[in-house]
Amino acid sequence: MDRPTTQNLPPDSTGIAEAVAILRRGGLVALPTETVYGLAADARCDRAVAGIFAAKDRPRFNPLIVHLADMDAARALAEFTPAADALAAAFWPGPLTLVLPLKAGSPIHPLVSAGLDTVALRMPGGFAHDLIAAFGKPLAAPSANTSGRITATSAQAVDADLGGRLDLIVDGGATPVGLESTIVKVEADGVRVLRPGGIAAEDIEKAGVKLLRGAAKGIEAPGMLASHYAPGAAVRPNAVELREGEALLAFGPMRIAGSEKAVAVLNLSETGDLHEAAARLFAHLAELDRSGAATIAVEPVPHEGLGEAINDRLARAAAPRGGIEGRG
Ligand code: TXA
Ligand code: MG
Repeated sequence: MDRPTTQNLPPDSTGIAEAVAILRRGGLVALPTETVYGLAADARCDRAVAGIFAAKDRPRFNPLIVHLADMDAARALAEFTPAADALAAAFWPGPLTLVLPLKAGSPIHPLVSAGLDTVALRMPGGFAHDLIAAFGKPLAAPSANTSGRITATSAQAVDADLGGRLDLIVDGGATPVGLESTIVKVEADGVRVLRPGGIAAEDIEKAGVKLLRGAAKGIEAPGMLASHYAPGAAVRPNAVELREGEALLAFGPMRIAGSEKAVAVLNLSETGDLHEAAARLFAHLAELDRSGAATIAVEPVPHEGLGEAINDRLARAAAPRGGIEGRG
């Protein structure tokens, strides 16, 4: 049933034309965004949306982000507040997703929002933006990985994981941010971070919006629980010494005790730059996983700026495996 190979095209006019043709017939296209690769399909088409869930083996209760190319399209789908307007003006196009009340009569397929009365919206830049504009309709796009596994930040990683289950992979090289978008829920008295990501919480506050602290009530981001981003190896964050047989994911110029006996070593950033570390995180985890080590020890990464999102991903990669919740 699966196709043996997946067509691969560059992010130019050929790539756009072929992607639009595939999207129009309800197909699946993996595409680069500034954050990570997305697995895109027509957000209004039931067959297309069902195809995303099937290709990723994703639980149906985990909703998808809708990607748009302009504010008119965004306002047609959701109720914007002044805080939402301010965040969109400050960060779109870019790595920010807004969870907003779904507008009555929205043409988005109900499976996209998993039956919730909210919808997650993002306006990406670059190739993804051009493609959505050419297609002329919103795209539903989760990260292009099997549910629960490491997120793909290159076309090769998409192909290794999902190749044969897609109609096209557009190869735009490594994605610059390397972590998924920051997801914020817009509430009456401010905004709450549901998933830390490519935009630091500090920067959201600088845009003049009140940041609400603490967890949201109930399950607000269904994909944000338990195990996720999991390589085959176990992951041991905040390691202070290296144990026998481990691979090492290093950070900064100083090594932890015992690092010389590591099965393999990769550094997220020799200079301790958190942007560089974010961009390398998933590719380095996947490469150390291929070393065959049973465990990947990770040196401590500071929690400021993008470090919050990096530590979030490492904690989920380290979480006990096996539950279906939390995968996406
Ligand atoms: O950077 C990104 O956000 C990438 C690129 C492709 O845009 N997309 C991405 O999608 O990370 P995905 O499906 O891997 O993660 C989307 C997250 C899930 O945790 C899901 O539960 C949450 O967004 N989500 C979607 N709709 C929601 C809603 N209405 N309320 C709360 N959380 C929602
Ligand atoms: Mg994901």
